Amino acid sequence: MMDRRKFLTNSGMLALSTCLTSCGGNSVASLIENTGLKAAFKDKFSVGTAISTKSLSEYGSKQLKLIAQEFNAITAENDFKWEMLRPSPNHWHWDLADKFVEFGLNNNMQMVGHALVWHSQIPESVFFNQKKQLLPRTQLLTMMEEHTNTVVGRYRGKIQVWDVVNEAFKQGNWRKSHWYNGIGEDYFEHAFRFAEAADPKAQLIYNDYGMDDPSKQQRVIEVINNCKRKGVKIDGIGMQSHLHLDGPSINEIERSILAYANAGLRVNITELEIDVLPKIEDYGNADIGNKYAYRKELDPYKKALPLAMEQKLAQRYEDVFKLYVKHSDKIDRVTLWGTSDDESWKNDFPIKGRTNYPLLFDRNQQPKLAHRRLKKLSL
Ligand code: XIL
Repeated sequence: MMDRRKFLTNSGMLALSTCLTSCGGNSVASLIENTGLKAAFKDKFSVGTAISTKSLSEYGSKQLKLIAQEFNAITAENDFKWEMLRPSPNHWHWDLADKFVEFGLNNNMQMVGHALVWHSQIPESVFFNQKKQLLPRTQLLTMMEEHTNTVVGRYRGKIQVWDVVNEAFKQGNWRKSHWYNGIGEDYFEHAFRFAEAADPKAQLIYNDYGMDDPSKQQRVIEVINNCKRKGVKIDGIGMQSHLHLDGPSINEIERSILAYANAGLRVNITELEIDVLPKIEDYGNADIGNKYAYRKELDPYKKALPLAMEQKLAQRYEDVFKLYVKHSDKIDRVTLWGTSDDESWKNDFPIKGRTNYPLLFDRNQQPKLAHRRLKKLSL
């Protein structure tokens, strides 16, 4: 794990020195690190969150203060995705990505760049000419390389982890994305080669949902092993972990953690949340293309979550974290996909406009029962 102190900036030092003069004999490290979930699990793994576009735009907001207090790793929920960073080939929007990095540096956090090569949230114009024909392989590879160089290069030495390829498989098969159709299977290894060339020291990750699905698991390991045999650097996998109250089971999650670790890969939990609403598809299926019509009976907790459900959620979080702690020698980071329930994408996925409660802070940014149980767990 990196030495976080090395990333302290001037403003961080100023805050620290102010604190040191007014906080008596406490050590510097404990003043900045001994709060929230990050302190609770500090000997086990980093605890992260995804920062939404709204939070990043409101620098100094209550939400960002809460994030600084609780977490020591951050991922931008949307602002490093191709369509946000680069809506057209020569227009780059660095504003929010730069703010993200400044926030991470000021708060001594591990930063994750999400995601370089993905089929979603990327303009069609990246792949097609004006006649709507898919661009030739060489052109697509050049574009991927140039994009990776520009983004990774800009933050070299600051962003320590990259989700290099996101969601390349559907169960055990290659997803027929434009990247796959235009370049072929080896788009995967090229993505990692380009990322390594752009920042040889970064941790490079393959990230996907449903990573406990046995057919996906087998395929991911097979493809990554092939790449590694050819000398391609892939450090670990990201299990997105969009979980539900009812599944996948702790056993299934454990089996997959072990399988990836046994294949020599570091495990990262990258997008954790626990859906409490009636389930309409397979556990952990976070395929962004899935959409279902709104039905009232699928949105039963519009006003509040009943206590019994709150307790179920807390128990499920506790069970899942117990497992992560058990395997903390294999796990570098556990990142929640958001901080408070109001901002969770699960209010709109896979059905728009429901009221969900999947995170650790409520709609008033107050810690939920689940949060208290996790803090206790670490004592
Ligand atoms: C989601 C964001 O949370 C939403 O705000 C956005 O509208 C769609 O994407 N897998 C991923 C994430 O890798 O990037 C997705 O994030 C959730 C599924």
